[in-house]
Amino acid sequence: MKKKIVVLAGDGIGPEIMASGLQVLDAVAKKCFHSFELEEHPFGGAGLDEAGASLPKKTLAACQNADAILLGAIGGPKWEKMSDTPEKGLLALRKALNLFANIRPVAVSSALIHLSPLKPEIIEGTDLIIVRELSSGIYFGEPRELTEQMAYDTARYQKNEIERILHSAFKLAQSRGKKVTSVDKANVLASSKLWRATAEEIAKEYPDCRLEHQYVDSAAMKLIQNPKAFDVIVTDNLFGDILSDEASVLPGSLGVLPSASYSTDGPSLYEPIHGSAPDIAGQGIANPISMILSVAMMLRQSFQEETAAQAIEDACDKILSKGLLTHDLGGQATTAQFTEAVIQELEGA
Ligand code: NAD
Ligand code: IPM
Ligand code: MN
Repeated sequence: MKKKIVVLAGDGIGPEIMASGLQVLDAVAKKCFHSFELEEHPFGGAGLDEAGASLPKKTLAACQNADAILLGAIGGPKWEKMSDTPEKGLLALRKALNLFANIRPVAVSSALIHLSPLKPEIIEGTDLIIVRELSSGIYFGEPRELTEQMAYDTARYQKNEIERILHSAFKLAQSRGKKVTSVDKANVLASSKLWRATAEEIAKEYPDCRLEHQYVDSAAMKLIQNPKAFDVIVTDNLFGDILSDEASVLPGSLGVLPSASYSTDGPSLYEPIHGSAPDIAGQGIANPISMILSVAMMLRQSFQEETAAQAIEDACDKILSKGLLTHDLGGQATTAQFTEAVIQELEGA
């Protein structure tokens, strides 16, 4: 049976890097156990332009019936002032699919060490995963209000929402370094106090793992000062958003970081952690690695195609180590040149 992948290219560099990801998927598909059927749908700014909504009903229905979803990136100045925005569509999609766990791996391979603005001895061996709670917290809490003179949001967590993301983090840690760093602001925020107490309780179910707590301000510093000290970082929606962009400085660019988002049952969604990069959109120079590695995560997690996933990751590393770099990493390669080199590497392998 063919597996149905819903493709949401989105806006800005989204369609450019999605094209790369799909070419790479095509190159490995013949070696896969499964075959794949792609279905493209408008979403984000493209949804607003083509169907009058950031998350058109048909797009959502297709996602609900998919075996996996690939998302490029959404957003841009064109839609910023509208009442419906691409960002609203993204949050609505995450909520509708109950995508509560967002897995953001940050590994610095040897090919990337000299490209980071940080000293090699600090980043060498960095291999951490940020587990970001994605469907609750201040992004979704009610009430919220915006007037000309006053505005507020609500950072709300239900205990069961904290429990399930902590379970995801501990299970992941069990397959790796067995250390979980829970990041919060429990010295100030009520939601963080519940988060920390719940983390303590859940940790008892994983006696083989170590739990430590860090306040988010200090964690932001330690992430750059000594990234090797981290294995699995688990944190709320907002802190996870911020810390993962910060962590992209370790491998040298936002353009190399993929992510996977899971629910308890339905399809998973795979997307770069970065946005639509309006400053470089349309120039053909975006780094496609974040999207290509998101495709690899999809093959591994949704379709158990470990060999194909590993081949893609190895091919990206190989091309980087040959010095073929896009401009964000200090090189001259275009999106198309980098993608073509990865495909040739895969086909030669
Ligand atoms: P951004 O992540 O789009 O860009 C930040 C910086 O990183 C820019 O200088 C950009 O050129 C660079 N960059 C990002 N990805 C790159 C890549 N693959 N290759 C080379 N350089 C890359 O963040 P922003 O500029 O703050 O936001 C732009 C828009 O994207 C906004 O509308 C925002 O809401 C949206 N956004 C969407 C997502 C998503 O779709 N999941 C994520 C973040 C931001
Ligand atoms: C991300 C983005 C989104 C978020 C925005 C565009 C709503 O920054 O996917 O990291 O904050 O979650
Ligand atoms: Mn973000």
